[in-house]
Amino acid sequence: MGLIPEEIIQQVIDRTDIVELIGSYIPLKKAGANYKALCPFHNEKTPSFVVTPNKQIFHCFGCHAGGNVLGFIMKHERLDFADAVRLLASKAGLVIPDTDPRAQAKDDLRRTIFEANEAAVEYYHQNLVSGKEPEVKAARDYLKSRAVGLDCVKRFRIGYAYDVWDGLAKELRYKGFSEEVILKSGLVVVREKSQGFYDRFRGRVIFSIFDYRGRALAFGARALKVEDKAKYINSPETLLYTKGQHLYGLNWAKDAIVREDAVIVVEGYMDLIRPVEAGIENVVASLGTALTLDHVRLIRRYTRNVIMLFDMDTAGQTATLRSLDILLEEDMNVRVAALSDEEDPDSFILKDGAQAFRDRIKLALSLFDFKLSRLTAAHNAQTIEGRARICQEILPTIDKIPSEVVRDGYVRELARRLGIPEEAVSKERRRLGAKTAAKAGSVEEEVRHEPRELLADEALLLRLMLMSPKWVAQARTNLLPEDFKDSTVRTIVEKVYELFGLGKDVSAAVLLNAFGDVALRSVLTRLAQEDFVFNDQPRMFADCVKRIKGFRRKEKRQQLREQMKLAENAGDSQMVRALQEQFNVLIKG
Ligand code: UTP
Ligand code: MN
Repeated sequence: MGLIPEEIIQQVIDRTDIVELIGSYIPLKKAGANYKALCPFHNEKTPSFVVTPNKQIFHCFGCHAGGNVLGFIMKHERLDFADAVRLLASKAGLVIPDTDPRAQAKDDLRRTIFEANEAAVEYYHQNLVSGKEPEVKAARDYLKSRAVGLDCVKRFRIGYAYDVWDGLAKELRYKGFSEEVILKSGLVVVREKSQGFYDRFRGRVIFSIFDYRGRALAFGARALKVEDKAKYINSPETLLYTKGQHLYGLNWAKDAIVREDAVIVVEGYMDLIRPVEAGIENVVASLGTALTLDHVRLIRRYTRNVIMLFDMDTAGQTATLRSLDILLEEDMNVRVAALSDEEDPDSFILKDGAQAFRDRIKLALSLFDFKLSRLTAAHNAQTIEGRARICQEILPTIDKIPSEVVRDGYVRELARRLGIPEEAVSKERRRLGAKTAAKAGSVEEEVRHEPRELLADEALLLRLMLMSPKWVAQARTNLLPEDFKDSTVRTIVEKVYELFGLGKDVSAAVLLNAFGDVALRSVLTRLAQEDFVFNDQPRMFADCVKRIKGFRRKEKRQQLREQMKLAENAGDSQMVRALQEQFNVLIKG
C-alpha cells in the first residue's frame, strides 16, 4: 500500500460529517450549537464528550481525548491512520488510487469475496425462512426443538444449506461471481477426480460469521442429526478469514460491550445466541478455540474487562487456562465464570433461565481464585509436595500480571491460602526465574493527561486563528512562531503558518492530521471547540498581539540586562556598549 494522497485525506474529511459519523456509534444529544454524549473512551455518568459540527471535531472534557473524524475512527475502531482513511473513504464512496496494481487486484478480490459471502448468507437464510421442502421443514423443526424461533433466525441471519451438490454454486454463478471467486470463498470444495467443485455445506443449518463491521467472513454448518460424523463443518481459511482472528457475534455485541464495559466470552454459536436472545447482549464466541492475541486486541477496542465462560469439560478448561495467560499478558481484567458440569450457556439458560445466568456471571471468580481452586482440586494442599506443585503452577501466571503491586498482592495471598510463609513463596518465585522488574510499558495505551495550562493571550490568539484564516494571515505578519512562549501553542502555530503559506486549509479538522501527539491534539480540539462569540474580534486580536509582543520585549530586555551585567563584570566595555545599543532600540520599538 502506498502513501495515501493528501487530497484524498482532505476529501475524506470534507465528505464525512462528524455528527453523522459519531452519531452512528453513540447517541448524541443536541446542546446549543454542539452535541453532547457520554464519552465512548472513558467511563462516565454525565456527558463531557462534545462534538462541534461547525469545526468538525470532538473533544472530551473528562479524558481529554480530541480529534477529527479520522481521530475518532482511529480511536474507536483502533485502526491506524491509513486504515481509518480507507474506512471513511469507502463509506464516502471515494476510491483511493493505489500505486501497487497487485495490491489493488488483491483488494478487489477480497471485496468480491465479501460480496459472494454476503450473497451466500442471504441465499442460505432465504432457504430456511421461505423453503417449502420437507428438508427445510426438518431444519426448522430442529431449530424449534432447540428453542430457536423465526425472530431469532432473522436476528442472527441463520440459514439452511440444501442437501444437494451445487445449490449454492449455482446461485453464485447465477449472481455473476467468477469461478475464481467462488473457489476462493471456501464455500465450495474442488472435486478430486473430475473437474469442477461442489458445495461444502450440505443438509446443514448455517451460522454466518461476520467481522466487527458486519461483513460476512465465514460459515459454520451444524448437522441436524446426532449420527452425522461432524457436528460442525466450518469454512476453511480464506483471504478473508483466519481462524482465531475473529469473534463470532462481535458485530452484534459491540455496543452492549461498551455499555456494560465488559464482555462475556463463550465457546459456541448457540452459547452466544441464547444469552443474547435472553437480553444479555455483551457476548462473543471464540468458536471452540482458546483466545488468541488477535482476539484480545479486538476486544480491547471496546473494553478491558473479560469474563471467560467456557465449558467445564477438559477441552473447555484447557482453553480457558490458555486464554487467561494471554489476557493477563495483555493487561486485561479477567474473571472466570463457571456453570455446572455438562452445561453450556445455551443449555444452562434454557434450563435455569436468564437470571440464574446473570447470577453466575456475577459470581465469576478472579483469575487467581479460579486457578487456585483448580489447583487445590488437583493437588493436595495438605502435603508439602502438593503445596509446592500449586506454587509452581500458579506463580508463572502471577508473573504475567503487568502490575508489580498486583503481583505482590497475589504472592501474599497465595502464601496465606496455602498457610506458608510469604518468604517461602517469594523464594520459590525467584527460583522459578520470576521477573521482578515491572514489565516494559504495556501496549500503546495512551496515558491520560491533564489539560495543559496555556498562556491566555497565546491561547486566545490561536483560537482566533482557528476561527478564521483571516487571523492567520494577520498573525503571520505580526508574530513569529518563536514569539509564542508556550511550546504546544508554538508547535501548532508553526504548522498553521506553514500550511497557510502553502495555500492550504488550516481548519482544526485538517490540522489534527499533522499531529500524532495526544496532548497536543487535545489542546487543539479544546481550543477549537470553544464556541463563544467575540463581539469585537479585531480589537481582541490587536490586544493579544500587543500583549504578546510586549511580553516578548520585556523578556528580551531582561535578557539584555543580564548579559550587560555579565559583560560589565568581565570588564568587556565594548560588549557593554553593543548591548546598550540593542537595549535602546528595543525600548524605542
Ligand atoms: P461444542 O462441542 O461445545 O458445541 O463446541 P456446541 O457449541 O455446544 O454446539 P451445539 O450447542 O451442540 O450446537 C463449541 C464450538 O466449537 C466449534 C463450534 O464453533 C462450536 O460452537 N466446533 C465444535 C467445531 O468447529 N466443530 C465441531 O465439530 C465441534
Ligand atoms: Mn451447546
